[in-house]
Amino acid sequence: MSRSEVHADPTALRFCDVSAVRGGRLIWSQASFEVPAGGIVAVIGANGSGKTTLLQMILGLIPVPSGQLRVFGRRPGADNRIGYVPQDYAASAGEAIRAADAVLLGLTGHHWGLRRITTAQRRQVRQTLDAVGAGGFANKRLATLSGGQRQRVAIAEALVDSPRMLILDEPLASLDLRSQREMVLLLSRLHGELGMTILVVAHDLNPLLPILDSAIYLLDKHAHHAPIADVVDDVLLTDLYGTPIRVTHTPHGELFMRSAL
Ligand SMILES: Nc1ncnc2c1ncn2[C@@H]1O[C@H](COP(=O)(O)OP(=O)(O)OP(=O)(O)O)[C@@H](O)[C@H]1O
Ligand SMILES: [Mg+2]
Repeated sequence: MSRSEVHADPTALRFCDVSAVRGGRLIWSQASFEVPAGGIVAVIGANGSGKTTLLQMILGLIPVPSGQLRVFGRRPGADNRIGYVPQDYAASAGEAIRAADAVLLGLTGHHWGLRRITTAQRRQVRQTLDAVGAGGFANKRLATLSGGQRQRVAIAEALVDSPRMLILDEPLASLDLRSQREMVLLLSRLHGELGMTILVVAHDLNPLLPILDSAIYLLDKHAHHAPIADVVDDVLLTDLYGTPIRVTHTPHGELFMRSAL
C-alpha cells in the first residue's frame, strides 16, 4: 500500500456530538472532534471510562447511539480497512492455534477452513510475521508463546491485510521494558514507512510519549481530543486518573509523568 493511498482522506475520525452507551447506561457523551489521518493517537482514561467502547464503536462492533461518527468519511463497520489488536487477544484467538494460522485469519476472515489458501497468502503471512519480529515462532501454538510474543502475533494478524488504521487496546500491558521499547519502535516504523493512522490505548504513557501526536481522553464522562503537549499536564492527568500525577521535563528535552505520591 502506498503512502498516497493511506492519505486519500485527510480526516481519519470525525466525531459529531457522539455518545456511548453500554447496557443502557451512558458511558460518555459530547464527543465532537476530528482526528487527522496519519497520526499516532493515544486513547486514555481511567478503568471503565469507555476506551474499549470507543474503539469498538469505531470498528462498528457496537452501535453509535447518538450523534455521527465517520471513519475515513464512511460510517463505522463499512469496509474501512482497520487492523484491530483487542485487549484480550490470546483469549479471542484461541490458545491452540499456530501463530501463522492466526495471522492467516487476518487475511481470510474466519472461513479459512473452507477456502484454498494460496501461496501468495502464505508468503504475505510470512512476510508480516518477519516484519514484526515474529518469524521465529510462526509454527508455534499461541499457548506456548510469552505475552510479548503473542502481542507480536496479534499485531501481525492486524497488519497482514494492509490496513489504513491500526487500533491497539493496551499493547504494552504485560510486556517487559525491552519488549515495550521494541513495540514502540515498531509502531513508529509503521507510522513512518506507511503513514498509517494508529490509535493506541495505554495506561502508562511514558514509553509512547516520544511518538505520540495527540490523545483522545475520557474525562468526567466526556470524550476530548487534543495535541499530546496539552494532554501531558499535571492538572489534566491528575483529574483523569484521580491520583496526583507530576509531569517532568528533563534538561535533555524528554518528558515523563509519574505518580506524585
Ligand atoms: N458488554 C457490556 N455490557 C454492559 N456494560 C459494559 C459492557 N462492556 C463494558 N461495559 C461497561 O462500560 C463501561 C466502559 O467499559 P470499557 O471496557 O469501554 O472501559 P475501558 O475504559 O476500556 O476500561 P479498562 O481500562 O478497564 O479496559 C464500564 O463501566 C463497563 O462496565
Ligand atoms: Mg478496555
